[in-house]
Amino acid sequence: MSLEHSIAIDGPAGAGKSTVARMLAHALGYRYVSTGDLYRALALEVIRRGLDPYDEAAVVDVAKSVCIRVERSECGGQRTILNNEDVTEEIRSAEVDSVVSPVSVYSQVRKHMVEAQRAIAYDADVVMDGRDIGTVVLAESAHKFYLTASAEERARRRQLDYARQGRHVDLADLVEEIEKRDTIDSTRQISPLRPAPDAVVIDCTTLSPDEVVDTMLAALRRPASCFTLSQNS
Ligand code: DC
Repeated sequence: MSLEHSIAIDGPAGAGKSTVARMLAHALGYRYVSTGDLYRALALEVIRRGLDPYDEAAVVDVAKSVCIRVERSECGGQRTILNNEDVTEEIRSAEVDSVVSPVSVYSQVRKHMVEAQRAIAYDADVVMDGRDIGTVVLAESAHKFYLTASAEERARRRQLDYARQGRHVDLADLVEEIEKRDTIDSTRQISPLRPAPDAVVIDCTTLSPDEVVDTMLAALRRPASCFTLSQNS
């Protein structure tokens, strides 16, 4: 497969990337890949081993020794497997949320993850979401999007996610946590979160997922993108 045809979606936590990436992948007949889930599985293993996420050597050791893989799920989503255990639900916990950004800053961790993610994209046409997809992982892609939304709106969406898991989390705490992750993700030295120069930037604050996907499909149809929609669309 050519990495040029794959679609890169980046943006801060809670911008709605995974929902629209899944919908877009379905519309195009592509594979959906959430790269954040790979970092989340690493964070979970760091927590399980009782390690300090700020201890670079310890985290890198875990990244080198652990077996993390992602598989397509039946409904077009993704399942995350950590050492042969399905941790798809467990990696969405608040504890993982608070550890995942610190463990994602280390260069050796990122090198390892980027290789794994590129290998997936060589195998299938993908819609891949993350923080450095348009800038690093799929830098060759001709189709890049950067989704953003206000911190308050993103926190509200996270609060709804937690409510679906039966948990009430205070909105102000979520805004604080999201802003903390934004700062770590966008100020780290290696592949910080930022729009690729050739990315289409979409502010999703007041848009529904359907409206965002329609905007993306319209951008992909523009002649300059030389993109052909598959028969599934
Ligand atoms: O997409 P997400 O919120 O599940 O990502 C969780 C964290 O993983 C995010 O805060 C930073 C890290 N991440 C990253 O550094 N690079 C990626 N491509 C994807 C996620």
